[in-house]
Amino acid sequence: MNVLAIETSCDDTAASVVRAPRQVLSEVVYSQSVHQRFGGVVPEWASRAHSEQIVPTVRAALHEAGVSRPDLVAVTSGPGLVGAVLVGLSYAKGAAIGWDVPLVAVHHLEGHLLSALLDDPAPSFPFLSLVVSGGHTTLYAARAVGQYEVHSTTVDDAVGEAFDKVARLLGLGYPGGPGVERLAREGRDTIPFPMPRPTGRPHDMSFSGLKSAVRQHIERYPGARPADVAASFQATVARYLALRVREAADRTGLDCIAIGGGAAANTTIREAIVGTGLRAFLPPRGRCTDNAAMIANVAIRRLEAGFGVSSFGVTAHTVPEVKG
Ligand code: KG4
Ligand code: ZN
Repeated sequence: MNVLAIETSCDDTAASVVRAPRQVLSEVVYSQSVHQRFGGVVPEWASRAHSEQIVPTVRAALHEAGVSRPDLVAVTSGPGLVGAVLVGLSYAKGAAIGWDVPLVAVHHLEGHLLSALLDDPAPSFPFLSLVVSGGHTTLYAARAVGQYEVHSTTVDDAVGEAFDKVARLLGLGYPGGPGVERLAREGRDTIPFPMPRPTGRPHDMSFSGLKSAVRQHIERYPGARPADVAASFQATVARYLALRVREAADRTGLDCIAIGGGAAANTTIREAIVGTGLRAFLPPRGRCTDNAAMIANVAIRRLEAGFGVSSFGVTAHTVPEVKG
């Protein structure tokens, strides 16, 4: 079975063909550059760029895979920017109707949560999965397909969001994560930033205090080397995440950790996760940032697990449930 997957929830227009169970035949990602001059994603521009790019992106994915008619269309139906999601979702519905094949609507976070399952070796259930994206930061215990317990979640900023905000403080462009990582390579982890625990919720995470500490440091020490600020911030985030992962492993007895989401592409974070001593499953970097192969993966895993296909009445608001 060949699955064509489409992902347009934010600022990447992505399409991929995956042959079940886990052979990725093609992966195409068009990253919209129009947002750079605004320092963040502008929803209206994202929708317009998706509309322009969706046809060439899907065509390229099918062509690269050597597939003219897939057996199923998988698509992100949320969460995300509604206008952006609707471009991919409407296109996917039209394509599935035209080919007369079923449609599977996928929750974007489940895509990140299970993305390590496309790799070889892949973790087997149950395992811990850390999703660190631009809008979400949550550590799950994945018990089975569709059964995800939240063990720790951010009470304020997501990790990717914190990287983006610190990038802005350092005068770097959007998206901030890759810029902070690049700058950090020239710096040293010398500034002891705090690792604040949310009051009353000791298992959870908080990143807005860390971002404020970075801002205060820059204001108080205008001569501070930006590269050292970047390196210290990044190392603090990595230590913080590794600590939460270790705690969750102790609480649950699970000894495998998978990661996903844009910030999981960060080398220091990846090294810290490996440093927990758990069995770490790190998808390739391009499979951590938004991509469509992870959406095909969820559709295949859900069908294997006995979940049905989706109704064509699915909208950008009827996000399939990811249980917390
Ligand atoms: O998963 P993703 O591509 O989109 C969302 O679902 O949000 O994540 C995007 C986020 C952005 O905040 C971006 O700055 C961050 O992931 N990111 C990184 C890196 N690459 C992307 N953060 C840290 N280091 C990176 N190398
Ligand atoms: Zn994402």
